[in-house]
Amino acid sequence: MTEPRLWNDVDDYLTALLAPPDDALSAALRDSDAAGLPHINVAPTHGKLLHLLAVIQGARRILEVGTLGGYSTIWLGRALPADGRLISLEYAEKHAEVARRNLARAGLDKITEVRVGPALDSLPKLAGEDPAPFDLVFIDADKVNNPHYVEWAVRLSRPGSLIVLDNVVRGGAVTDATTDDPAIRGTRAALELFASHPKLDATAIQTVGVKGYDGFALARVLP
Ligand code: SAH
Ligand code: DHB
Ligand code: MG
Repeated sequence: MTEPRLWNDVDDYLTALLAPPDDALSAALRDSDAAGLPHINVAPTHGKLLHLLAVIQGARRILEVGTLGGYSTIWLGRALPADGRLISLEYAEKHAEVARRNLARAGLDKITEVRVGPALDSLPKLAGEDPAPFDLVFIDADKVNNPHYVEWAVRLSRPGSLIVLDNVVRGGAVTDATTDDPAIRGTRAALELFASHPKLDATAIQTVGVKGYDGFALARVLP
């Protein structure tokens, strides 16, 4: 099959032009790899997309579910003003430690915070702090809980907030309505929620490139 090589060549071309690595991004991936973290961070062009979406959104407050080594967190954090705030939720202490170092090296430690624990524990705790609404929520953790994360994202948002859901295509597996795979079932349930929720207006985009064949979904929170 020639297509994946073509996708990768095009992705390399676009990345070099439009989302070239800098020292902090390269070091974040290098140290994540050295610590044994899986290579499941967003692609550079998608990190740049998250960054641009946050800038277009005028985001001052961002919530991320699923930090890993903080690669997507750096792209998002760089969209914030000096008094902005990004909270990222991560299950694994080791991932959070790597991410905090990567965020500090990127100069983002003042405005970013990585909270450790299952996100379904961290989210109610966060809600209990009665936080100002988040302008953008990026959901990229365990896919089985995606519908719960969407519900929490709506609850912690305001009209006009943007919710981004990663990995909604998974090589096409998303169309299998009979699958037993809890990750696919979770993502299908989240997409169905995107479609049916009275407070959401959504779409999804298929993607190809260095991360293979996947996609993401976007939802705007309605009044
Ligand atoms: N957003 C990152 C990639 C995240 S990978 C990037 O693009 O750079 C998914 C992360 O979600 C992993 O670090 C994993 O440990 C974390 N995770 C898995 N289950 C979780 C849970 N229940 N709560 C919070 N984080 C979880
Ligand atoms: C996986 C998770 C991700 O968030 C991703 O972007 C790619 C792969 C995974 O769990 O395999
Ligand atoms: Mg992902």
